[in-house]
Amino acid sequence: HLRDQLLSDITSADLPALEEVRVRALGKSGAITALLKTLGQMSPEERTERAPAIQALRTSVSEAIEARKAALEAAALDARLATETLDMTLPIAPAPQGSVHPVSQVMDELAEIFADLGFAVATGPEIEDDWHNFTALNIPETHPARAMHDTFYFPDVDGEGRKMLLRTHTSPVQIRTMMSGPPPIRIIAPGRTYRSDSDATHTPMFHQVEGLVIDRGVHLGHLKWTLETFVKAFFEREDIVLRLRPSYFPFTEPSVEVDVGYTLTNGRRVIGGNQPDGWMEILGSGMVHTKVIEACGLDPAEWQGFAFGCGIDRLAMLKYGMDDLRAFFDGDLRWLRNYGFRA
Ligand code: PHE
Repeated sequence: HLRDQLLSDITSADLPALEEVRVRALGKSGAITALLKTLGQMSPEERTERAPAIQALRTSVSEAIEARKAALEAAALDARLATETLDMTLPIAPAPQGSVHPVSQVMDELAEIFADLGFAVATGPEIEDDWHNFTALNIPETHPARAMHDTFYFPDVDGEGRKMLLRTHTSPVQIRTMMSGPPPIRIIAPGRTYRSDSDATHTPMFHQVEGLVIDRGVHLGHLKWTLETFVKAFFEREDIVLRLRPSYFPFTEPSVEVDVGYTLTNGRRVIGGNQPDGWMEILGSGMVHTKVIEACGLDPAEWQGFAFGCGIDRLAMLKYGMDDLRAFFDGDLRWLRNYGFRA
């Protein structure tokens, strides 16, 4: 009747009660464990006679416990599945995202504007040799313009005896482009440039975009039209006045510095307006010097052109209203968002 009692307890048990039955029957001091222990005190004959029944009792009780346990667990799982629901249409938690940097944004805008005018994008190395950065651009060793550039030089010459430096402007890409294929050439070359200089409007690393056109019969009028078209497209307004001032660069002749007119709106300088309140310099340019064309192996009697070089960071500041250039390179997301750059 021990067996009947245990089997009926098992049939009605929930999971905690089932564990209690198991301990009561099969635990260290359980009833069936006690019966098994009595086998040790029996004579061999008696043991042979009594053992099978006790073993069978243990087997049937432990099997009944396992079966009940499995049934209870399956029922619990069914109940959970019936009540728990997973809504696959819920939106995911938003993860923080980056945005395009103003410098990249302006580079993309420039590439697009100049692509419409037939310009390809060219690149050159940021680690340059002094021939491409200076000499070929009509800036010989003794030229004072070398000192003006606050150049970062590498301490040693390279394997071919060249003096290496971080390019101080994108103008060496003019040289590399003219030497890599025949005219006509129409390229812009955006990229990083370096000068040992640091304040609110100068960082040791900054960005320029170079422009170069080489063809037959190119003159200053082409330069002026190209710059006007570019500036109007970039600042997205037609009423922009340019002022071309005579200037000097060793690699252009004549050389012109270009200012854009601004108007004062609530004390802020806004690019544009047919009657400017003042001028802001945005780029240097000119007709490519015959010595530069010759240095690249071209005949200046056949090929002429113009070039310009423009600070990209400054363009971004003017278009998007930033006032401190150093913040461009701090990587602060709050700064980006403040100027409307969000993902
Ligand atoms: N390389 C000049 C600078 O960095 C800009 C420039 C480029 C001027 C091309 C004329 C022609 O200041």
